[in-house]
Amino acid sequence: MSERRRRRFLRVAVHLAAAAGLVVLVISARAGRAAPAAPVAVAVVLLAASHLLLARELGRREHIERALHDANRELEAFAYSVSHDLRAPLRAIEGFSQALVEDAGPALSPEARRHLERICAATRRMGCLIDDLMLLSKVSEAEMTRQRIDLSDLALQILADLRRQAPDRRVEAIITPGLTAAGDPELVRLALQNLIENAWKFTARRRQPTIDVGRTRDEDGAVAFYVGDNGAGFDPAYADKLFGPFQRLHAASEFPGTGIGLATVQRIVHRHGGHVWAEGLPDQGACFYFTLE
Ligand SMILES: Nc1ncnc2c1ncn2[C@@H]1O[C@H](COP(=O)(O)OP(=O)(O)OP(=O)(O)O)[C@@H](O)[C@H]1O
Ligand SMILES: [Mg+2]
Repeated sequence: MSERRRRRFLRVAVHLAAAAGLVVLVISARAGRAAPAAPVAVAVVLLAASHLLLARELGRREHIERALHDANRELEAFAYSVSHDLRAPLRAIEGFSQALVEDAGPALSPEARRHLERICAATRRMGCLIDDLMLLSKVSEAEMTRQRIDLSDLALQILADLRRQAPDRRVEAIITPGLTAAGDPELVRLALQNLIENAWKFTARRRQPTIDVGRTRDEDGAVAFYVGDNGAGFDPAYADKLFGPFQRLHAASEFPGTGIGLATVQRIVHRHGGHVWAEGLPDQGACFYFTLE
């Protein structure tokens, strides 16, 4: 028997024996008789033992949780400082490549110029990736509060901003009124913004794009919110992968982006003690669900 199974067996046995002792006590009390001394003594000893086991178990769990939390913080700090330190050399590469294009431009062959321009474009892209990584670290570090949030109102504001930025697009938005939840207003806004921006982006090729924001229940019956759309959709085999940093299923030439939005959403949702999942089919739209507690 493995060590874990042995411990579990021992715990269950102690609890059962303690429960049996208690039953003897209760039956004796009901019958108005003094309980036999032996079962009472056994029950008391076993109760104490089970209490001790439980306390040890809780202590161990707390210890593991603390260690995990510390390791996570260290990793976050490491990612942040590496990202930060990468910026300076990157700026130098970009600056000197740009200077070379400007100073030696006329003397360079067209091919050499194209190479240099590619270096500049790649360093700019790397700069964006670094910025996004740092943003992701900040989301994990940010102080959190819990307040009542009006998600319907937030969704309306986010969509109004998107309409202002792209006045030519006609997108039908169906937002269930009165969606409220408890959470950190800044973080929840950021999560919702990422989901609605995705829905907006991935419906760009639809003739009649639609975005839905509403409420449902997860498989345990807890309140879940969703952002759905009738856009490009995705292969459901990759539904879980989408939440990893820099995971993208669509070419940047078709739908631009770095692939950090859903990783941010997942971190925010996890920080609230919730979970997030996605459903979609190629060319038949997508729906992203999240709970907040
Ligand atoms: N509404 C959606 N419909 C179809 N695919 C989606 C949708 N939302 C996300 N995806 C898929 O998941 C990938 C990851 O999404 P995510 O938001 O992390 O990155 P992004 O939108 O590509 O870039 P970023 O958000 O960093 O600008 C997307 O590239 C896309 O392939
Ligand atoms: Mg995105």
